Amino acid sequence: QKQGYDWYMRKEIFEQPRAVADTLLGRLNERGELILDEIRISPETLRRIDKIVIVACGTAFYAGLVAKYAIEHWTRIPCEVEVASEFRYRDPIIDPMTLVVTISQSGETADTLMAIRHAREQGAKVIAICNTNGATIPRESDAVIYTHAGPEIGVASTKGFTTQLVACYLLGLYLAQVRGMKYGDEIAALLRELERMPEAIQGMLDNQQQVLDLAREFVNEPSVLFLGRHVGYPVALEGALKLKELAYIHAEGFAAGELKHGPIALIREDLPVFVVVPPRGRDQLRDKVVSNIAEVRARGAKTIVLAEADDEEARAAAAVFIELPKLSTLLQPVAAIIPLQLFACELATVQGHDVDQPRNLAKSVTVE
Ligand code: F6R
Repeated sequence: QKQGYDWYMRKEIFEQPRAVADTLLGRLNERGELILDEIRISPETLRRIDKIVIVACGTAFYAGLVAKYAIEHWTRIPCEVEVASEFRYRDPIIDPMTLVVTISQSGETADTLMAIRHAREQGAKVIAICNTNGATIPRESDAVIYTHAGPEIGVASTKGFTTQLVACYLLGLYLAQVRGMKYGDEIAALLRELERMPEAIQGMLDNQQQVLDLAREFVNEPSVLFLGRHVGYPVALEGALKLKELAYIHAEGFAAGELKHGPIALIREDLPVFVVVPPRGRDQLRDKVVSNIAEVRARGAKTIVLAEADDEEARAAAAVFIELPKLSTLLQPVAAIIPLQLFACELATVQGHDVDQPRNLAKSVTVE
């Protein structure tokens, strides 16, 4: 039931505060430690892991790209991310010391299933992050972290993605906790921040009007670009994917630092360019993104900038400014993706497309 929404997708976008809260439920004990009972792989085994490989498809793959930044930072375990359909065909280097993490909303994606079968044949341990109880992928994995998003009916993944991000953070923090790494101390603080995430998402949803107006303004655009850096890069990729799937227009996400290595040639007068700006941190990341905005603006592009409300420089470089809540850099994607989901949903609605059933797409891809 759509409960008064025009599309399942829109309903699912608005369910994200609840979905994220449910995915976090009961993970924290009184001592501020993370509990992940479902990881039935012994702490000793997890301490011996020397490499993590994340395999997934589509939106779940982009969640995996975010996970790589977080997991490597918190655990210092080398982490690769690969599109599942490419994985087994290149004879990947995996052994019993490799932890394979697979992310799948449906738990039935054939490419992903084949990848984990291959990994287990090589003796790797497999942890699945999945939204569907008892699906094939969790059944064939050593352990499962379920996202508690509830059924996702719209073909385009939304609450699937944000809950996958949360599950990846939980896994990364759990590995850091088990291995007693230097970021262990940060775990409690990050978990408290994660617990405030539903509120942060709700804030983005409450301010949707600006994004809806923007979608109406851009309804005839043939092309839209998305730029981001660090974990903002997968957000850019996911924002572009939503637009391709739903509105059938050319959309591309780029790592902002790659701009001058080619994509800047695409920038022209009035081209809509979304830019995700990281929070101010110890590094120069945010400053670099702000100068990327100036570069595209100087070439006449229409810059839609997502940044923290008090980032006055980012605001000054923006044609349209979308405020993001204050979050740690690694957690920002959960909030930053919300306006991009709303934008794609609204643009496709105004264009008259079937948002829940985009052409040529199936909800779960059960053939390789
Ligand atoms: C995009 C989308 C797809 C899926 C991909 C993997 O909106 O839904 O890209 O993310 O097909 O599906 P799962 O997560 O079910 O393995």
